[in-house]
Amino acid sequence: MKLRRTLLVGAIVSLGLFAQQTAPVPEQPADIPGSLAPYLPTPNAVVDQMLQAVQLKPGETLFDLGSGDGRIVIAAAKKYKANAIGVELDDDLAASSISRIAEEGLDKTARIIHGDLLKQNYSTADVVTVYLWPEANKQVAQLLDIQLKKGTRVISHDFEMGGWKPTKVITIADDGTGRSHTLFLYIR
Ligand SMILES: C[S@@+](CC[C@H](N)C(=O)[O-])C[C@H]1O[C@@H](n2cnc3c(N)ncnc32)[C@H](O)[C@@H]1O
Repeated sequence: MKLRRTLLVGAIVSLGLFAQQTAPVPEQPADIPGSLAPYLPTPNAVVDQMLQAVQLKPGETLFDLGSGDGRIVIAAAKKYKANAIGVELDDDLAASSISRIAEEGLDKTARIIHGDLLKQNYSTADVVTVYLWPEANKQVAQLLDIQLKKGTRVISHDFEMGGWKPTKVITIADDGTGRSHTLFLYIR
């Protein structure tokens, strides 16, 4: 039921994207208590660009804040040999991504925390990936300011981290579907 609802929200947002060809800002996050953003997956081609931009190395620890179907976590563990951890609030998305990690045989290097991303500790992170909404990013930036070790790379898809100055801004003009994306890279 929740998956249907999140997919519906995703579909509505995607339709908005198709019409606008730029990043949408929905008025409401998903209707799950504590949700900071609806489910809208990062296209796989953009996932690769995010992981290349942060120069993810084998053995490094990556957190994806709001990990959806686990695609960033799985790519980080599988292609980059990182220790990858996703945090996901939605019951169905957490369960399906945990299953997919098991199916891929990545249990040793990838895992999903089923919980609220604002209640976790990211002090071990080398890399943090974010695809949340602008208001959420302000809260996340405040939390990361307290927790991150010096030099941690943070990359945010489409929306800036409130109050932070990006080290680099990468524009992807077309992801293959006509949609553009912007990546904001920060080195803390
Ligand atoms: C825009 S999607 C991004 C998914 C994935 N990171 C990606 O880029 O493909 C945002 C995700 O954050 C999750 N989310 C929203 N609020 C959350 C919270 N407070 N704690 C954990 N996950 C949350 C949503 O359920 C959704 O899966």
